[in-house]
Amino acid sequence: MVGTDDGAGMNFAFLTDPLSELKPAKDSSVAMMREAARRGHEVWALARPTLAWRDGVVSAQAQRIDPAAQPATGAAKWFCVLDKEMRPLTTFDAVLMRQDPPFDTEYLVATWLLERAQAAGARVHNDPRAIRDHSEKVALTEFAEFAPPTLIARDAATLAGFIDELGEVILKPLDGMGGRGVFHVRHDDPNRNAIVETLTDYGRRSIMAQRYLPAIREGDKRILLIAGEPVPFALARVPQAGEARGNLAAGGTGIARPLTARDREIAVALGPTLWARGLFIVGLDVIGDYLTEINVTSPTCFVEITEQTGFDVAAQVIDALERQCA
Ligand SMILES: Nc1ncnc2c1ncn2[C@@H]1O[C@H](COP(=O)(O)OP(=O)(O)O)[C@@H](O)[C@H]1O
Ligand SMILES: [Mg+2]
Repeated sequence: MVGTDDGAGMNFAFLTDPLSELKPAKDSSVAMMREAARRGHEVWALARPTLAWRDGVVSAQAQRIDPAAQPATGAAKWFCVLDKEMRPLTTFDAVLMRQDPPFDTEYLVATWLLERAQAAGARVHNDPRAIRDHSEKVALTEFAEFAPPTLIARDAATLAGFIDELGEVILKPLDGMGGRGVFHVRHDDPNRNAIVETLTDYGRRSIMAQRYLPAIREGDKRILLIAGEPVPFALARVPQAGEARGNLAAGGTGIARPLTARDREIAVALGPTLWARGLFIVGLDVIGDYLTEINVTSPTCFVEITEQTGFDVAAQVIDALERQCA
């Protein structure tokens, strides 16, 4: 059931990648849509290509959907469309920005437009300005006491010095996701200079170099913060044999585990600060005892945590949204 007639239901709009590209069985945004619909709220999907500003009003083509429907035709469809109209973003109780990177110019434009919608009264999560201010890789520098030895640079000699000093490092682009472009490099690797040249485009692009953390073999833990509060279970993404990257997109296996004391220490230290900036859903990546990434664009792993532990992450989000909108 979607929507209510008694006025108690709220209407939530999700700005995501195209609905047809979402994998409903594993997608965190779909999990939130389904939980919202289950509670009788209206669920709307906003089409990014139609987002527009005109005379102070930010609107988008909005489809009201039933995310739990299994239409008889088109077996791949996980939703059915109940309504479709061009709507100002201010007409929703909340707008959830859930688009995946790349954080390119169009992403930036979306945050600018959403910021105008917000100025006109729309409630947008995560806060568009905060998304813009937080590079998922560079934001780590603000919380360096929790990070492993890290260098952000583009100069070949500076990077070479770091690799020699640490002996074994991870090199990664600043705008990647899903493990894309992540290299595990030892100081005596005959390809090390070519890797640095390729990642930095011969010194034109800054990258991150980080101490290689052997604890990655126990997994890259995704710790979710919802309105500043940690989800009590992390999803440890364990790399496949012979693979450096734990990302599920790189074939990693997700195993839910209760937060360790250190995980909780990091979560409690960052949670309130990030939430005060309007970062409603945050995904910290923690390897062993170290923070390695702060994901703010469209953090995932809800479904895997819920399936393995019974702790309903989407419900924690919708609870928090209902409190916000009450
Ligand atoms: N310091 C590190 N030590 C060991 N492995 C790392 C380190 N940083 C990243 N990795 C590996 O690379 C993967 C992706 O890194 P991450 O920084 O989270 O970037 P992405 O945005 O691609 O997820 C991790 O899951 C992990 O397997
Ligand atoms: Mg990551």
